[in-house]
Amino acid sequence: MNIVIIGATSGIGKALFEKYVNQDNKIGIIGRRAHLLDELHRKYPSKTFIAKADITNIDEIEYVIQTLHKEFEHIDLAIVCAGIGEINAKLAYSVERPTIDTNVVGWTFVIDMLYHIFEKQDYGHLVAITSAGGLRGEPMAPAYSATKAYQINYMEALRKNAFNNGGTYSSY
Ligand SMILES: NC(=O)c1ccc[n+]([C@@H]2O[C@H](COP(=O)([O-])OP(=O)(O)OC[C@H]3O[C@@H](n4cnc5c(N)ncnc54)[C@H](OP(=O)(O)O)[C@@H]3O)[C@@H](O)[C@H]2O)c1
Repeated sequence: MNIVIIGATSGIGKALFEKYVNQDNKIGIIGRRAHLLDELHRKYPSKTFIAKADITNIDEIEYVIQTLHKEFEHIDLAIVCAGIGEINAKLAYSVERPTIDTNVVGWTFVIDMLYHIFEKQDYGHLVAITSAGGLRGEPMAPAYSATKAYQINYMEALRKNAFNNGGTYSSY
């Protein structure tokens, strides 16, 4: 399979990369920390394509996804892990704002771009790592739980769109 993981330099995205790279896949990985991308590329040079980008920089992330799409010709699976969240019970706007910029503004651009790629291809699996934190408002992290609720609802909307257009959908 040709796989793209956005947010693969650490955590869940990196663990998914390690899982899929050990199977018969080509994987494009995206994140901001270039030295971590380089490390993963050095470990699996023939199967890994790296691209440094910040999902809040729309021109940059658009270019990088386009480039990976051209390189792969088709994408079978795209996993969007990129996300941030901090404890912020005191509601510092300097914490809420980047959380919204990342988990809502940049995230929406990435999800929509991948959705359109799959629409054109007429196949593809689009996966977003949201959070159980999005099921209820969380007093310790209001922007995190609210942005994750947004993601859950957005993915539900896209699943319904895909289904109405003849696709299948599942939710976990
Ligand atoms: N860990 C949990 O318990 C848990 C539970 C529920 C949901 N989640 C969700 O799972 C996802 C991954 O979380 P994690 O725990 O694995 O955290 P993590 O280790 O901090 O990983 C986040 C990944 O997202 C990337 N990222 C963050 N902001 C980005 C941006 N602006 N542009 C591009 N890449 C960006 C980071 O790469 P760079 O820093 O290199 O850019 C990193 O690879 C998040 O969406 C999180 O909300 C996590």
